[in-house]
Amino acid sequence: MPSSIAARRHFLRFVASSPLLALRAAAAEDKVIESPEQALNLMNFEAAARKSLPPAHFGYLTTGVDDDVTVRANHEAFGRYQLRPRRLVDVSKIDTSVELFGTRWPTPLFLCPCGSQRAYHPEGELASARASATRNTLQMLSTVSTYGIEDVMKAATRPVWYQLYPTSSNTVAERMVKRAEAAGCPVLVITVDIPAGRNTETQKRFTALDTRTCNTCHAVRKLGARRPMFDGLDTTGTTIYNPAFTWQSVRRLRSMTSMKIVLKGIAEGEDARIAVEEGIDGLVVSNHGGRSEDSGRATIDCLAEVVDGVRGRMPVLLDGGVRRGTDVFKALALGARAVGIGRPYLWGLGAFGQAGVEAVLDILRKELHLAMAQCGAASIAEVKRSHVLRA
Ligand code: GLV
Repeated sequence: MPSSIAARRHFLRFVASSPLLALRAAAAEDKVIESPEQALNLMNFEAAARKSLPPAHFGYLTTGVDDDVTVRANHEAFGRYQLRPRRLVDVSKIDTSVELFGTRWPTPLFLCPCGSQRAYHPEGELASARASATRNTLQMLSTVSTYGIEDVMKAATRPVWYQLYPTSSNTVAERMVKRAEAAGCPVLVITVDIPAGRNTETQKRFTALDTRTCNTCHAVRKLGARRPMFDGLDTTGTTIYNPAFTWQSVRRLRSMTSMKIVLKGIAEGEDARIAVEEGIDGLVVSNHGGRSEDSGRATIDCLAEVVDGVRGRMPVLLDGGVRRGTDVFKALALGARAVGIGRPYLWGLGAFGQAGVEAVLDILRKELHLAMAQCGAASIAEVKRSHVLRA
């Protein structure tokens, strides 16, 4: 059971001794938030987004693959790590800043590269970029974004990192890499976790509930349609995934750009060791938010072996199932340099646009701050493996 649901049940049981109070509490608990200010936590934004979005779009946001086991595992696994708080440490000043490739960010949080954001809000990736600007937070932009990199760069103010689906065409991939570089992106994040497609059953179930005529918007079923990063490229016969993409392909992309190369989707130690040999600059431990294979293995459970595999030679980032500041803290303790969120900020975006993304980031930052204070860590460098224990 997700910890949010368990907490709600516990709360309702607690007030059950007074029928009137119980009724009022239930009503308050079930009320969908109507403004970002009403949110107590990140989970509150999910119901608000579900209410705002057409079923097919919410289905795309929420889906995992097959039985969504990995979507649930990502989140639930955090609950199996306990905190080991240290006391009597001066935590009157907490510094949450981290450095990534020579750039300092005030928090270790980042916005994952999530595609199709105009499906959630008309301002899509621009709203996320504006929120990342006001909250000084790293944004990664998806290949399948609904605004082009140049517009997003302007809205973001600080350079975004560009996520690349290599696609089955070398030319298409190379042109997108060149375009991202020309736009000023310092880092290329190559997604390596979906070689040959996926089975998004939950999305199909939600789409079946949608009574709108999807063809009005999705008439052109062609790779890159309504996806500006494909503008001007010949995508005939090209697929978004590339089953023939290998370490050799990474080398080729690397030789044509001076951007740092980060691989996203690494989930075990041997690949991390190869990445070191290959001279990769960074890794994101990720299973695509449970949208690649339904492995059932949470990213937080994969993290330690990847961190051990890179032996301090490059930063390791993590995403997947992060919903609380304590989750961020646990990932940092297990060796992540930065921690990404995907669905939570899209919930914020879908429900309230830029203000929703900002509120999600604010809540998570405050929760992280508290977790650090409680554990006696005044800076990220002071967050250690000894702060967590796997139950
Ligand atoms: C995009 O990256 C997706 O998972 O749909």
